[in-house]
Amino acid sequence: MQHLIGWLLLIASIAGHTEWWVVIVNRSHALRIRSTRLRKFRTLHDLAVLSYPVILLWLTGTGPKSLWRGGSFSEQSFFLQCLLIVTITGCIPLILGMVRWHWIRHPQFKHSDSTTRHDVLGQASTDEERNAVRGPRRHVSQLWPWNEIFHLEVNTKAIRVNSSAGNGKTTKAPLRLAHISDLHFIGCPGLGYYQFLVNQITELQPDLILFTGDLIDEMELLPEAIDILRPLLSVAPCYFILGNHDWKYEHEQIRSQFAASGWRCVTGRSEILRVGEYQILLAGSEQPWTGPAPPVVRDAGCDLRVLLSHSPDQHLLAKRFGYDLMLSGHTHGGQVVLPLFGPIYSPSLFGVSYVSGLFRRGNMTMHVSRGVGAKDPMRWRCCPELTCLEVTCGN
Ligand SMILES: [Fe+2]
Repeated sequence: MQHLIGWLLLIASIAGHTEWWVVIVNRSHALRIRSTRLRKFRTLHDLAVLSYPVILLWLTGTGPKSLWRGGSFSEQSFFLQCLLIVTITGCIPLILGMVRWHWIRHPQFKHSDSTTRHDVLGQASTDEERNAVRGPRRHVSQLWPWNEIFHLEVNTKAIRVNSSAGNGKTTKAPLRLAHISDLHFIGCPGLGYYQFLVNQITELQPDLILFTGDLIDEMELLPEAIDILRPLLSVAPCYFILGNHDWKYEHEQIRSQFAASGWRCVTGRSEILRVGEYQILLAGSEQPWTGPAPPVVRDAGCDLRVLLSHSPDQHLLAKRFGYDLMLSGHTHGGQVVLPLFGPIYSPSLFGVSYVSGLFRRGNMTMHVSRGVGAKDPMRWRCCPELTCLEVTCGN
């Protein structure tokens, strides 16, 4: 029994130590910090996480009083006792994240949904098509058979959004919003994959197409990225904001060239649109990386007030400023969702709390997309996502 307790203490210390680093990494990637610093920090995280089990075993020693040989907690040195206590407390946010993921993420206001999953690479019939889907950039993660980067999930989510202009009436046909995020053109997947995405959006026949940032991770691909998204302009009005990855490059050049193609940027400003029976106020925010804060809603006559914000962390502002619906990305759904633990890495001040899906805070509804691409092409149990939100307004 004493052996078991000793091993549990060691395992909990390693898990808790890793979680504390994850907590710090998640928060640091939610802030306006340059990528060179973040890269150094991630290297430090990798070294700390990988070396800690060795250091811990070295500290506990090989004698009969060592934890793994049946020694008790009180028999350890004062330093090791303190280290164990500090690291084991890291299991608290880890367990809270697991509980939230497994039991507290099914919103009651989502009244139906449907999902179609496509294996884009598998559907390609010729070598030429397969190469177009794979793209010119090769990454070691592509060798992993469970990697989902060449899949696409098309989700339709019917939601009822609290809107003060709704007056309890839901007689209008639902508003269909195509929400895409985090395209991350980097050369993997290739243009063939993005062409498939564009075809899927076209088939959805949305009323509005909304992109919530992270267009580019390779500046040379900007003209091709813009070209492949251009046909969507004939499907529905297209609006965008940029994300933190765009901010790393010449983001004003990305913005101006994308806008010149016909997509409309709403960063730091709002626009009132007439879409079918709906009058919509649409605004955008790229905070905390660039551009001004989202504008406070002043127009009370619109059916729906929508904020595009790359980071879901802006939801407190969105709620305070009077928005009914906020669309976000940035967190990529965690990219890797472990079977028991759920998602671990999520670049947000709130960790994995808003990693993906639908949330309601007060009267405001938020949809966080898992996104389409990623700078590091690796996804597991976290399929790339295109979402059609079928929105009805009421209160
Ligand atoms: Fe992203």
